[in-house]
Amino acid sequence: MAVAAARAVESSRPDRLVEDPFAEAFVRAAPTPRPLPTRWPDDLAALTDQQVLLLLGANYVGLRTRFFDDALADPGRQVVLLAAGLDTRAFRLAWPAGTTAYELDQPEVPAFKDSVLTAPPRCTRVPVPVDLAGDWATPLRAAGFDPGTPTAWLAEGLLHYLDADAERALVDTVDRLSAPGSTLTVERAMTVPDRQALEDGSDRLGVRMDEIVHTGPRTDLTTTLRDRGWTAEDIPADTVATRYGRPLPHPDLVRARAGGAAQPTQAGFTRAEKTG
Ligand SMILES: C[S@@+](CC[C@H](N)C(=O)[O-])C[C@H]1O[C@@H](n2cnc3c(N)ncnc32)[C@H](O)[C@@H]1O
Repeated sequence: MAVAAARAVESSRPDRLVEDPFAEAFVRAAPTPRPLPTRWPDDLAALTDQQVLLLLGANYVGLRTRFFDDALADPGRQVVLLAAGLDTRAFRLAWPAGTTAYELDQPEVPAFKDSVLTAPPRCTRVPVPVDLAGDWATPLRAAGFDPGTPTAWLAEGLLHYLDADAERALVDTVDRLSAPGSTLTVERAMTVPDRQALEDGSDRLGVRMDEIVHTGPRTDLTTTLRDRGWTAEDIPADTVATRYGRPLPHPDLVRARAGGAAQPTQAGFTRAEKTG
């Protein structure tokens, strides 16, 4: 829900990078014990520490969403959103006629999403309930996915939910199901050098990131993909931030935070294409 709230915040900004007209409805439909901001505030000085942290996250999610939107601008006939969550690209983006988007997530997520969204999608949208740490290839194929057609794969905000073995298995399955010409755009799992800092941050944020994030060592994703015959490029979030003129972290929010100092972002993306 924090990601939908973040996209609602982004959509309210005068300098928005993304407009998601559906994001706020998700937050309204499932209120959280501590309310999540859904608007960019007029007065940053009046914010609590928790609100500043949530808005720092929203500032990043706005940039991330735009990066993935642009990565999927011309997706071909078949898109697979791994851990689609409350992603509304199938409703927002003007994909060419004939595009099919498979939305994979845990069963309760598409059920909630369908209960909130009343607008028709702008492409053929196929929700597929799965466990991405298990066998998800079988239900995806049963839903109509064609491994002989090049696919645009997207994994945004997913990898830190998977441990290293599940991440490698996911990449193996993507590889097995990918025709040459397929692309994969991924937000890399976050690096968390200090478990205690993650617990403290979860307390302050009011979102228990420490209970959902796998922090163990992982094989470098670019290497994993290149070993399987993909071209793969790492794109640091800072590079994307410069490209879109969206500083990370937001300097005014850093100033608004008592004793705050700008922490460099460790976030980043991998963009890959299957060539052979
Ligand atoms: C932070 S959300 C990101 C959702 C979406 N990609 C976005 O950026 O808005 C993470 C999503 O991963 C899904 N997820 C986590 N582990 C999963 C698993 N093992 N199988 C399927 N979905 C999973 C969650 O249900 C949630 O919707």
